[in-house]
Amino acid sequence: VTSLKEGADLPIGVAVPAGGASNSIFVSEERKNIVLQHFSQVSAENIMKMDALHPSQGNFNFDAADELVNFAANNGLSVHGHVLVWHSQTAGWMESFSGSKVEWIDMMENHVTQIATHFSGRLHSWDVVNEAFLENGEYRDDGSIWYQNIGAEFIERAFTTARSADANAELYYNDYNLSSSEPKIDAVVAMVKDFQARNIPIDGVGFQMHIGADSPSADTIKAHFQKVVDLGIKVKITELDIRMNATNNDDALTPDIAERQKERYYEVVSAYLETVPAAQRGGITIWGITDADSWIINLYDQPDWPLLFNSELEAKPALQGVADAI
Ligand code: XIL
Repeated sequence: VTSLKEGADLPIGVAVPAGGASNSIFVSEERKNIVLQHFSQVSAENIMKMDALHPSQGNFNFDAADELVNFAANNGLSVHGHVLVWHSQTAGWMESFSGSKVEWIDMMENHVTQIATHFSGRLHSWDVVNEAFLENGEYRDDGSIWYQNIGAEFIERAFTTARSADANAELYYNDYNLSSSEPKIDAVVAMVKDFQARNIPIDGVGFQMHIGADSPSADTIKAHFQKVVDLGIKVKITELDIRMNATNNDDALTPDIAERQKERYYEVVSAYLETVPAAQRGGITIWGITDADSWIINLYDQPDWPLLFNSELEAKPALQGVADAI
């Protein structure tokens, strides 16, 4: 595959590991070259999260993120911002913030305003709120300082505030298991319908898609994309990776596993392109560059090979699978 993005009529993105000020934004020159060759959009894997951008109250650290955004602009890549409000990777000072509901609203809205204003005009889109629902379709309550202290209205407030600060960035609600959990996708659909009825801005739903080799099935994935297509807004695959060793039976990526992964990437990307009309395609982002970088390895603490390039930075059959589908 010469270039994944070549001839594609939708953003083809990748999450870049971006180490921080002392580090190159791509960790290595080879990774940077892969990004330039194959991708048209970048997401920051960590450096645009709440803790990274807003480490102490009123103190913002934009250096690493600005470096990434400038690099993207200079090289014709768009940037998908990740993430304005999430219950995870919040700053320590937010966790220990104490105040009335009004003060919490103020604190959260100020965070969104400062950050969305800083990047205004430079980002293609934002994940405005991440992971606000549980698998059963209920709001994540105990696990989220935002829900606990503000209630469900934190979500719409984040969207309205983001739109005021940046009129042009597309605004996404982002979550995991949306392609597998029916109660969860249905809860998101109900939220979007409610937003649309009350003129709360929302432009799309991000399906993270940290998925396995066998499930969800292509039919289920398509049916869940279709629910969002029917709302008339965009569908974006925001964090695609495919685990191949969930049972931990393998300690190396064999040709057989690599071939099954290629077919699975082909199936998922095809499901997206078959279901989502061109005008509603927010794009497809792969959550990391090489298998060695993948967060999946740390998460499960066992060998796996979820991405398109191996730890030697060589293209895997999976890359061909995505290219064939596009
Ligand atoms: C992950 C990063 O990949 C890791 O480096 C970090 O340690 C934890 O977060 N859902 C999201 C992403 O929205 O921000 C997460 O990224 C993966 C799950």
